[in-house]
Amino acid sequence: MNILYAGHPDEWADYQSALPPLLAARGIKANLARDMQPDAVDFIIYAPTGPLKDFTPYTNLRAVLSLWAGVERIIGNATLQVPLARMVDAGLSLGMRDYVCGHVLRHHLGMDAHIHGQDGIWRDTIFPPLARQRRVGMLGLGALGATCGQALAGFGFDVMGWSRSQKHIDGINCLSGDEGLAQVLAEAEILVLLLPYTQATHHLLNAETLAQTRDGVFIINPGRGLLIDDDALLAALNAGKIGHATLDVFQIEPLPVDHPYWAHPRVTVTPHIAATSRAETCSEVLTENIARSMAGQNLLYVVDRNAGY
Ligand code: NDP
Ligand code: OXD
Repeated sequence: MNILYAGHPDEWADYQSALPPLLAARGIKANLARDMQPDAVDFIIYAPTGPLKDFTPYTNLRAVLSLWAGVERIIGNATLQVPLARMVDAGLSLGMRDYVCGHVLRHHLGMDAHIHGQDGIWRDTIFPPLARQRRVGMLGLGALGATCGQALAGFGFDVMGWSRSQKHIDGINCLSGDEGLAQVLAEAEILVLLLPYTQATHHLLNAETLAQTRDGVFIINPGRGLLIDDDALLAALNAGKIGHATLDVFQIEPLPVDHPYWAHPRVTVTPHIAATSRAETCSEVLTENIARSMAGQNLLYVVDRNAGY
């Protein structure tokens, strides 16, 4: 059985060491390589940062296994005719949990005032509220949104979340539909975007929806850049409507050096590092899916082409 690695070239060595022992432990004899006869390939391990754009030559392919959770850069590829599984794994979830909790706590505690405002004045009467007095809205309650929402609930935050289908998650007030979105926008003091980018989520935050948010809301977006209309966000920041935007993902990456986000005093830019796929943990998921496919079982985390994620 042949597995073609078409992920980021810099991560090849990591997968070369992590994956074969896990496959062998499941009794799977596999040849893992970066280059092989296309019609011999059974599985492709894929990342949009890798070399592969055209799946046509892979005539005996069983499945494409994405190393990324977000699949908007492959889902429209008409040459892909086999099931596509996205990445759901502990490394991604825990990394995202740490990123989101860190940035929520920064805004909740008002850390910037102390880090940037040391002026010799001892202001000992200004305290942050308790976490339970702070409402956090999660847009997206999937693998990552639910993990982050529950971690924030663990700190005591008053967490509400919104998803396409109605969810029931301990510690989170789960909402759905247009009314649910309106409620999250109206009530959240800190808003976290962990939605996939699809036709339905394009510019979900725009002039109209930003106007529905609480004055001074903090926005944290590790989802995708195109969830937000950048011009509308900049206008809302400049008008003082939005307190701060912490952005990890952008319409164009790397974010162009002259983009207004870089110099904006109330924008924090992080370079798409909120969470990463690590070979050590992703190899477990890849192994499970390869084993399932070999046994004729359904793959885990198959992308719904109609929904777009
Ligand atoms: P999931 O598919 O597990 O979850 C997506 C969530 O968004 C689900 O709750 C889904 O609803 C909801 N959703 C999708 N479309 C809509 C819609 N139209 N209206 C309302 N809710 C919607 O994805 P993950 O949690 O694994 O990942 C989320 C995104 O995070 C990825 O797509 C990717 O873009 C981004 N990401 C960013 C990283 C970074 O480093 N910055 C790293 C990894 C991922 P439902 O539950 O009903 O399906
Ligand atoms: C992903 C990402 O989607 O890294 O996995 O953004």
